[in-house]
Amino acid sequence: MHPDDHVCLCFRVSLRKIRTYLNREDPPVPSLISECLGAGTGCQWCVPFLKHLHAQHQRGQTPDLHISPQRYAEARTGYHKSNSRDEGVVRQATETEAEHERPNE
Ligand code: FES
Repeated sequence: MHPDDHVCLCFRVSLRKIRTYLNREDPPVPSLISECLGAGTGCQWCVPFLKHLHAQHQRGQTPDLHISPQRYAEARTGYHKSNSRDEGVVRQATETEAEHERPNE
């Protein structure tokens, strides 16, 4: 994801804003990211992604999501229609670098 892409689409909170918040506040729990412009307090779509970004920050990694903004937004639309999250999208977006480098088994 590009830093200017929105992670929380409800409140238009970009990856860059979330990174800045994590670096500045170093919140002990992911739910505190809601203090960053209300991220995660609307439809809840972005909550597992915010948790992932928080976990990456805790590990000293640069928080990122491995998904295009288009696919991310489409999956959110599907979530709103079906009221269930496409776990494949969550898995894809929250894969770690190590998983990316792991050869197919
Ligand atoms: S996309 Fe973040 S609360 Fe809806």
